[in-house]
Amino acid sequence: MNPELRFTDVVAQARPQKRKDDIRNFEYSYRAEITSIYPLTDKETLYRIQIVDPDERRRFSFVPGQFIMLEMPGIDEAPFSISSSASIRGEVELCIRSVGNLTNFLPRVRRGTHVGIRGPFGTGFPMQQMHGQNVLLIAGGLGLVPLRSPIAYVLENRSHFRDVNIVYGTKSPAQLLFTYQYEMWRKDDIDMDIIVEKADQSWKGPVGLITDPLKDILSGRDTEFYYNTYAIVCGPPVMFKFVCNMLNEFHIPMQKMFVSLERRMHCGMGKCCRCNVGSTYTCLTGPVFDYWTVMNLKEAI
Ligand SMILES: Cc1cc2nc3c(=O)[nH]c(=O)nc-3n(C[C@H](O)[C@H](O)[C@H](O)COP(=O)(O)OP(=O)(O)OC[C@H]3O[C@@H](n4cnc5c(N)ncnc54)[C@H](O)[C@@H]3O)c2cc1C
Ligand code: FES
Repeated sequence: MNPELRFTDVVAQARPQKRKDDIRNFEYSYRAEITSIYPLTDKETLYRIQIVDPDERRRFSFVPGQFIMLEMPGIDEAPFSISSSASIRGEVELCIRSVGNLTNFLPRVRRGTHVGIRGPFGTGFPMQQMHGQNVLLIAGGLGLVPLRSPIAYVLENRSHFRDVNIVYGTKSPAQLLFTYQYEMWRKDDIDMDIIVEKADQSWKGPVGLITDPLKDILSGRDTEFYYNTYAIVCGPPVMFKFVCNMLNEFHIPMQKMFVSLERRMHCGMGKCCRCNVGSTYTCLTGPVFDYWTVMNLKEAI
């Protein structure tokens, strides 16, 4: 690939000839079944959803960072980040927070319930481009949900990466997601820092902001480290600014910093104009953007 070409340029160039096929795929709803339900916190639940038809299952694939539209027949449809390994075809894991119409209904469903899924939609993280480099995987709050798919990619291809650090922060210990996986991630030569803004009696770890452990990781490294580091940042928009500013201060190239921008979405395919930032539809050109592009998008963060 031409190193001068940015990730978003590649996506934009690929679009014209793919667009007709994409729209056909995007409108198609796969019949799928909820195969497991696992409560993670009092607000978030992990659902494993499998496409029913074996042929369709083989055809359905995605890349880390993409999302799908989940439809509960008769209730509603909404976008959710895919939170599982992209190497498993025909199946997705979604971690869903109860906030409204669809998501408050979901805790009532049982294993075996049929749902519809459309997609996958949007751009993903350029994982192969990161081979041979250091990787910082940074998440705040619900941001660990989209980050779990690139984490799975890194674990499955660990020898392709140099230093890997996960930095995860939440408001309180009760909001930490996927706690049962941290030890497994660490075993695979991955450093993981967890920090909470407000401790409770059970919490023995550090208290503060996500930028605290990030600063420790970045301080005292040589220029070669900064130049050869990619960062993936997922979380609330307020976090992007502080985290990306710090990465910037340490001279991590902006084209090597990737963020996932979530906007309200309805159609997922550039038709309804709900998700635009300026003239850019985040459902098509995003949700994954490099930070250079984000800096040039008015009101993106
Ligand atoms: C690309 C993408 C990926 C997402 N991934 C996840 C995920 O992995 N897990 C998850 O729990 N949620 C995720 N969301 C958010 C999720 O789509 C919304 O919470 C969902 O639409 C709520 O549906 P509902 O019918 O339950 O809520 P509604 O009844 O539609 O709305 C409930 C409340 O949430 C507000 N709201 C709805 N959508 C959004 C939004 N996108 N941003 C801010 N406020 C919103 C509404 O204004 C309302 O106040 C994602 C959103 C996008 C765009
Ligand atoms: S969600 Fe409809 S245009 Fe993006």
